[in-house]
Amino acid sequence: MRICLIILCCWMSMSHAATIAISCGAVGRQVELCREGVAIWEKRSGHKASVVSTPASSSERLALYQQLLAAKTADIDVFQIDVVWPGILAPHFVDLAKPLVGQVKQHFPTIIANNTVNGQLIAMPWYTDAGVLYYRKDLLEKYQQPIPETWSDMTRIAKHIMTEERKAGLDKMWGFTWQGRAYEGLTCNALEWVNSYGGGQIVESDGKISINNKQAEQAITMAASWVGDISPPGVLNYAEEDARGVFQSGHAVFMRNWPYVWALTQHEDSPIRGKVGVAPVPKSGNGQHAATLGGWQLAVSKYSKHADIAIDLVRYLTSEEEQKRRALAGSYNPTIPSLYQDKQVLAANPFFGKLVKTLNVAIARPSTVTGAKYNQVSAAFYNQIHQVLAGRQKANVALEQLSRQLLRVSKGERW
Ligand code: GLC
Repeated sequence: MRICLIILCCWMSMSHAATIAISCGAVGRQVELCREGVAIWEKRSGHKASVVSTPASSSERLALYQQLLAAKTADIDVFQIDVVWPGILAPHFVDLAKPLVGQVKQHFPTIIANNTVNGQLIAMPWYTDAGVLYYRKDLLEKYQQPIPETWSDMTRIAKHIMTEERKAGLDKMWGFTWQGRAYEGLTCNALEWVNSYGGGQIVESDGKISINNKQAEQAITMAASWVGDISPPGVLNYAEEDARGVFQSGHAVFMRNWPYVWALTQHEDSPIRGKVGVAPVPKSGNGQHAATLGGWQLAVSKYSKHADIAIDLVRYLTSEEEQKRRALAGSYNPTIPSLYQDKQVLAANPFFGKLVKTLNVAIARPSTVTGAKYNQVSAAFYNQIHQVLAGRQKANVALEQLSRQLLRVSKGERW
């Protein structure tokens, strides 16, 4: 009788166990960290989730998601989505406001607002980030140079150290690496240049297309002058991990990247472990520091056959416990403000204390105002900027063309 009962119980619990799928990012150690988090949830919930890896480029990932969601696939239950996608993908996702009502108020209200489309919370914040400048502490000390505040200081210091290091035999040394490929990452970098020159946010929050201005022209012209000088010509094809590869192998003085890079530079086998500092992205002489706001959310597909279980996975992965684990293991910025006071989190990421201020004033890409058209706006922006960086177009001409393109997309700034 007892044995029968045990068999019956096992059969009943197995019959309720489901297998779902989550798509996680592929930059740095993302897949590994995602798998670890999922494994903890599997043990506790009794369900299974397979981790589907997606392209590292945010632009390519969006294209893949759009295909899958247009086909109403049930193959992926939980989607990791970029902070700029809610307006593009909202119709495909479940409203999480009610099922996760207890968790919502723990998170930064601005991210919850960003993820709320037509009154529905279409994704839960998973981690946030903002652009930062990484520098080689040891090299600045060796050449008695300060941490640069302005772009012109950075350019000068980068050039000086790179030249001296090359003379000393490090012939692969460069001054500055960043994300210059024609994709979403370039939009993030270029928005920092433009905004720090006082050149606005491409499209302002009232819908006005502002990008065709003198400050933006100066900012982009400056960036074009780096290519082949302090930045390798190949930077025109660099995404996050390419830029990190050069910096982490010891071949660059400065790098613009996201916070996740910190944990990797401090890894036991990193050649630059202990030699790295983090500072705000430089500004123009009379401008302000500008860091583009990034970050990723978890959304549940409307086409999922196990939406309740998928919501449970999202509840766990976005929880304080899991966000803390990811901050310690991978420098992923929590979306729960109280974790920025956590001693262990701060010890593992000494720059998080200052970064939280940067996050509060970080520059948003114009995704809320342009909504479903954001990707067209961003693609037009990064393609035009890429032309200037590659020396195929002058900045003023590119910005004028861009402005006209955006006007066509927006149908007269009404979006
Ligand atoms: C980072 C940011 C994301 C941004 C992407 C661009 O992953 O978190 O918001 O779109 O970089 O490459």
